[in-house]
Parts: sequence; structure tokens; C-alpha cells
Amino acid sequence: MTDRHIPFTPATPALLPATRGIAFGGDYNPEQWPHAVWDADYQAFNVANITTITLGVFIWSLIQPSENTYDFTKLDEIVARATSEGRSICLATATGAIPPWVATEYPEVTRIDFEGRAHGYGQRHNSCWSSPAFRRLSAALAGRIAERYADNPNVVAWHIGNEYGGACYCDLCAASFRAWLRDRYETLEALNEAWNATFWSHRFTDWDQVVPPNALTEHWRGPAYTAFQGITLDYRRFTTDNAISQFNGEKAAIREYSDLPVTTNLMGFYEPLDYHRWAPHLDFASWDNYPPRADEPWRTAVTHDLMRGLKDGAPFWLMEQTPTATASRDVNPVRKPGVMRLWSWQAVAHGSDSVLFFQMRASRGACEMNHGAVLGHSGRLDTRAFREVAGLGAELKALGDETIGARTPAKVALLIDWDSWWALEMADGPNRLVGYLPTVLQWARTLWEAGAQLDVVSVTSEMSAYDVVVAPLLHMVKDGVAERLDEVVARGGSLVTGYLSGRVDEDDRRFLDDVPGPLKQMLGIRVSETDSAEPDHSNPIQFADGPGAHGGLTAAGRMIFEVIVAEGAEVVARYGEDFYAGEPAVTLNRRPVGDSPLVEGVEGHAWYIGTQLDHEGLSHIMRSVLARHDLVGPYADLPYVELATRIAPSGIKFDFIINHSAEPVEITVHADGQDVLGRRHLAKGERVTLGGTDLIIVRS
Ligand code: GLA
Ligand code: ZN
Repeated sequence: MTDRHIPFTPATPALLPATRGIAFGGDYNPEQWPHAVWDADYQAFNVANITTITLGVFIWSLIQPSENTYDFTKLDEIVARATSEGRSICLATATGAIPPWVATEYPEVTRIDFEGRAHGYGQRHNSCWSSPAFRRLSAALAGRIAERYADNPNVVAWHIGNEYGGACYCDLCAASFRAWLRDRYETLEALNEAWNATFWSHRFTDWDQVVPPNALTEHWRGPAYTAFQGITLDYRRFTTDNAISQFNGEKAAIREYSDLPVTTNLMGFYEPLDYHRWAPHLDFASWDNYPPRADEPWRTAVTHDLMRGLKDGAPFWLMEQTPTATASRDVNPVRKPGVMRLWSWQAVAHGSDSVLFFQMRASRGACEMNHGAVLGHSGRLDTRAFREVAGLGAELKALGDETIGARTPAKVALLIDWDSWWALEMADGPNRLVGYLPTVLQWARTLWEAGAQLDVVSVTSEMSAYDVVVAPLLHMVKDGVAERLDEVVARGGSLVTGYLSGRVDEDDRRFLDDVPGPLKQMLGIRVSETDSAEPDHSNPIQFADGPGAHGGLTAAGRMIFEVIVAEGAEVVARYGEDFYAGEPAVTLNRRPVGDSPLVEGVEGHAWYIGTQLDHEGLSHIMRSVLARHDLVGPYADLPYVELATRIAPSGIKFDFIINHSAEPVEITVHADGQDVLGRRHLAKGERVTLGGTDLIIVRS
């Protein structure tokens, strides 16, 4: 049986593609154009120093026009050309979109959606992962491709499928779900217990009575509105495992012929699939960065950190980004001058060993013909997009391979847990408007602005390397997690958590205890009641007067108001209004540490924030936490300037100082070193101008 308790296992080591320097290029689909266009493309690639291309992502219908006919003529030509042109190739298994014949011959491959509607042929990324036909055909294709191209020295990585996503509710999935449940629970008794099935008369007496939770069964509105969280939560876990299992079918087929690294392009904070469950199955992590807004650089930063965290801090690949604009949104602004370059360097600064675009040449028709590309429909090289790409290519070439394999020396961990995300957002009460991701991003923003370098890791990660552990919305506390966090505090570290934490166990059942359950002792508090309000209502949060860092600040609290009873913790701030005026809203529990490995004579700190503080209030707390460990960054007073550090295997340190504002700023350089892009020496303490939308890389 699967261990129901998620184990504290070290991440599996990463296996990265061998590249000459930072892999630079992107998705290229020459099957859409005549050879004359290929010639022009490669000339352009030479100009821009394109080193790496991803081939074949959507080529299935061309290479297997019917079940018993494989025709590699086109792909052979494409791969041969890329090889003779000296490019590294990330080769796809082509299974992200099925050809029409797959759907007509095997109708089971197309999904049943959440509403119970059976889909017909169309779109992409919508095959049923339980379907034996899809599993067989996709693994067979992956194996054929691997067999054919494994010996090509230019192939550096395998790209399985594309942007795995969504879910299916068909009968095949129902059967796989039941098998998954039998494996997890062994007995119906255990399942009934975990799902609290006695509530609303749900005790199951036969495994076949279990059906997928959807709009026609347990759900009463969308996917987050369920009568039984237990079954919905397990269906999400199953869906992730089911996708991984299909992925592993392709991976195993590749392994028959090749030991090269395998990945699939993930999507950052993608709610439907738990990437921490996925991580051990990837050889290296890769993801597609399409930020919804241009003015939230912390969002991209923390997402890179999440992706890097999947393989224990090893480098990842930025598999896609647009050189200009996306097309799928209602409004698709172009990246302003310099922004594509800046975001590319930001990816490298946060641990990427690649800078790859979607796409090298724009499609002629269908829904992505207006999507940005390195080369547009005219193929001109005198566009802003191409000039910027070529400029970046020259910079990356000059940098060479020195940053390859470099790691991020983070002392602050931000904990993420998909189970908490799901459980919190599918809970009726206390406040559905508290979103997991917005909260994580708000907390991450305050850390990013203060200059903390973050590792974003799962709640079951090793935490011994961190001075500060930040756990927003630690809603579900799995077995062993409280003990791990306690160790952080016991050795003199700081833990920050807060509202809606410590509520449920791994089965999404409330602890038969005060809130925050197994965390309460460490935090020295209990929550006596929880009030909630609409977002436009606020309660003034008054920080204690006195010599401490909090001296008299009044912040605003919103959405959730946990009335805290201090049981050993010190009260940092109190509610200003309502019937709980004067009661604690923020607390700090200090624990003396004998021989702290951090600072002699220091104590461990466990913070609890009982309300959704405004930006100023939260920043205030985060900065005082970081300051205690000397982790406030040197540019923390410049709101749009970030510092991200990587240390190469050679020991060489790269400090990326990035100005995300369009305005130039004066900075005082924090360390001696060589300015990699400007090619001059920088001295610690020197005042220099950092241009708007520009960066300095200090090598030391
Ligand atoms: C995703 C896909 C690509 C393409 C881009 C467009 O990342 O993987 O195939 O559709 O979006 O932004
Ligand atoms: Zn299905």
C-alpha cells in the first residue's frame, strides 16, 4: 500500500542536459514551412547566436498518419538540418496533441469533463491519462522517436508531452481512481474514516459505489465547491499521480534507448497538478513563464524559485517565454523595450540554465498566428523583437558556460503545499475570498522586496539549511511537519506562519484540538474564534509601543480575524476594533536556545499572524524577522531592485542586480567584483547608476 503519510525524502538528484553555455533558442516548428524558409531561419539563428531548439512538440499527425504507419521523412529532415547547423536539440515526444485518427479509432482517448460532457476530437492537452489506448500509443511513439534519434549527438534532452493539465472524469478514470483508493486505504473502513463518510450518510459498502467527484456528483458549484473534501482532495491527488503514470510510460519507452535527461514543461504555480508529487519523476525541471502582469517581478521570481525547488535547488530550464506578446489573453500587451532581456536574465539569476522562447517563427494560421515570435511572418531581422533577441544572444555568448550548474545560496525557505492549497480553497468557511496563491504572493513579495533570497520548497523538505522558514496558509499539517518546524525554532531559527494554519490533518479532517492544532505549542498560542469579513472591511492592527522594531505602527487587517489567546507567546499587535478590540492579532513566541548555531545566546522565534495584514504591516514583520538573521538585502530600500545570487561549481559567485523599474536608480555596490556585462571593475561602496529596465552582473 502507498504510504499515506507523505515521507520526508530527499529530492532525487537532477540530471541536466549537456550544453555549451546557457541554452538559447526555443520551440521551432519548421514542418509548417517550405525549405526556403528554413534557410532564412538558420541564417537568422546564426545572427542571434541561437544554440538550442525544441523540435517536434506538435508533429504527431505528420509522423504517424495512421496507427500502423510511421513516416519519419519530415522529422528526419528537420533533425538532420538542425544537426548539420550545429544546434543542440530538445526533442519532443509529440504527444501533447493527438491526430484525428486516434480519437475516431479510440473514442476513449477524449475526455469527459467536470460537467460530465463527453468531448470529441479537437484542441490539445486533452487526452485521458487512464486510457489504455492513449498510454499504449503515446509510449509507442515516444519509444520510436527515442530509438530513431537517441544516437544523434546533438540531441541533449527529451521533452515529454506539453503542459500537462486539466482532469478527466470518464469511466476509465473512475476505475483507475478506485484502484488508487484501494492501494491507499486497503479497506473501505479506512476510506470511510478518512472521508468522514458518516456525515450525510455516505458510508461506502462496495468500492464500485465510489464515483469521481464532479458537477453531477459531490460538487454544487465549480471544482472547489464540494460536499466531501475527502473525495475531492483524493481525486486531485489521483489526477496528478495518473498524469505522472502516463508520463512515466513515455519515459520508460525512452529509457529503452537513451539515458539523456527527460523533462516536461510545467507551468509554475499551476493549481490542478501537484508538482511536488511530480518532481522525483523529472530528470530536470522546466517551465513556461508567461507572467499575467508586467509589474509584479516578485511573482516571476518566486515562481522560478518554486521550479528550482523541485530538484533540490539544481538548475532548471526556462522552456518557454514570449519574445514579444502572448495571444491567448483578451488583451496581449507587448514586452516593452528591454523587458524580454531583463526577464531572461532574471530567469538565469534564479537558477535557469536556459533562455528559450515560444516560438522561433510565428505560425501562419490557427489560434497562435498572432503570438509573438523571434521571427515574424515577414521574416525580417530589423524588428525590435529580433534585435533584442540577437542582443541577448551576444551577451549570453560572452558569458559562456560559467554559470552552468550554479546554485542559489538561500537561507530563507518559503513552504508550499498543494494539499493545503486545495484543502483551503475547497473549504466552506470561514472565508472563501482568502486565496492560497494571492496570499503566498503577498508574503513572497514582502520577502522579495526586503532582498531575501528564497528557496521555495514543499512542507516535507529538509529544513536544516534555513535560518528562516515562512509558511503562509499552512492549512493542512501532515504528520511530522510540526516536528520539523519545531526543530527550526529549537536551533534558534525563525518561523513565520499565520491565519488559517493548523486546521486540518492529511485527510482534511479538523484536529480535535484548539486551532492551530499541532502548531499551537510551538507558537505559544491558541485561537479562540475566527471572524471574517468582505475585502473592503478592515480592522486597525496596533503594534505594541516600545523599543522593539514595531514601535507603535498601525496597520490594517482584512478578511480573516483570528482572536488569539497568548499562552506563552508575546503579543506583538492587537485588534483595534470590534468586540475583540485589544485582543492579540500577531504574536511572537520566543524559545531560549542554549548553544545556538546561529548566534550565541540567541533564541528561536515562532511568529503567528492572525489576520491578513496590509503590505506595510506584513513587510514590517518580515523585515524584522530577516534583520535578526542579517538577511535583509543590500538594496532593500529600492522597491523594484532585486539581488539574486548564484554560486557556480567553480566557486565563482554571480550577483545579479536587476532594476525592474523603467527609471534609472543610483545604487551603492554591495561587493567588489567584475561587472560582467559592462566589463569593468566594481568596488564595494562605489555609487553607480543602474539603468531603467537594466541589470549589472557582479562576478566575484
Ligand atoms: C504554451 C504552450 C505552447 C504555446 C504557448 C503560447 O506555453 O506550451 O505550445 O501554446 O503556450 O503562449
Ligand atoms: Zn478519463
